[in-house]
Amino acid sequence: MDSQTEYWSARALLEWQVELGVTDATSETPINRFELAAKPPAKKQAKTAPAKVVTTSDIDVAEIARAAAAKASSLDELKAALSNFQHCELERGAHNLVFADGSPSARVMIIGEAPGREEDLQGLPFVGRIGDLLDKMFAAIAMARSAEGAAGIYITDVLPWRPPQNREPKPEEIAMMRPFVERHIELAKPDLILLMGNIPCQTLLGQRGITRLRGNWKEVLGIPALPMFHPDYLLRNPHAKREAWADLLALQARLKTLS
Ligand code: URA
Repeated sequence: MDSQTEYWSARALLEWQVELGVTDATSETPINRFELAAKPPAKKQAKTAPAKVVTTSDIDVAEIARAAAAKASSLDELKAALSNFQHCELERGAHNLVFADGSPSARVMIIGEAPGREEDLQGLPFVGRIGDLLDKMFAAIAMARSAEGAAGIYITDVLPWRPPQNREPKPEEIAMMRPFVERHIELAKPDLILLMGNIPCQTLLGQRGITRLRGNWKEVLGIPALPMFHPDYLLRNPHAKREAWADLLALQARLKTLS
C-alpha cells in the first residue's frame, strides 16, 4: 500500500469507530493484542487474604463534598475545591473540569446537566451546537454570557465532569455534586435561577418531569427558580421552542419586577 492509500484506509477506519460511538483513545500507545495472546499466562499467585479496599460506598462522600464546598468562600476557592475533590470517578475520564462561564455578577444563573464532548474538551459549559442555541435564545431577550450585570448570564452544570458516552448521571454522582452546586448558588447570589432539563430539577428540587415542571416557578435556596426545556431537547424537538420562548418571556418579566 502506498502512503496515500494507507492514510485514507486508516482515516476510514477511524471515522467508522467514531460512528460507532468511540470518543476517546484509552491509551496513548497502541497495544498489539496478537502478541499478548501468544505470551504464556502469568503463574497464579498463592492465595492470600485480599487487602481491604476502601470503596466510596464505605465513606459518606456527600458529607465530604459538603464539608469541602462549605469551606469555599469565593468562586475561585469553590473551583479549587472541585479540582481537588478525588471521590468522583467521572473526574478520571474527563479532559477538563467544567466549572462555569459568563459573568458571575449576572442576575440570572443557568444550571445545566453535565458537560458533553465539546464542553469537556474546551472546559466550558454549553459550547458547540447546544451552546449556540442557548446563546441565540438569550440574545432574543437581549442577554448574553459576555455581558455584565443586568444583561449578563452566568452558566454552570450540575456535574463538572463529562459522564462517559454522555450517559445519565447516577444518583450517587448527583448526591455527591449537590453540595457544590448549592454552594455555587450561594456564592454567585443570582436573583433568578434557570433549571435547564431534568437533572438540575432532580438535583435541586428533588423532582423530574420537565414537561410538567417547565414554566412553573419554584424556589431553590430561597431564590426563584424556573425549570425550562434543555436546548438539546429543543434541537431534537423544535416544536417545543414555543414553550421555551414563553419561559424566556416569563424570566424577563420576573427580572423586571425584581429590579
Ligand atoms: N448540556 C448541558 O447540560 N451542559 C452542558 O454544558 C452541555 C450540554
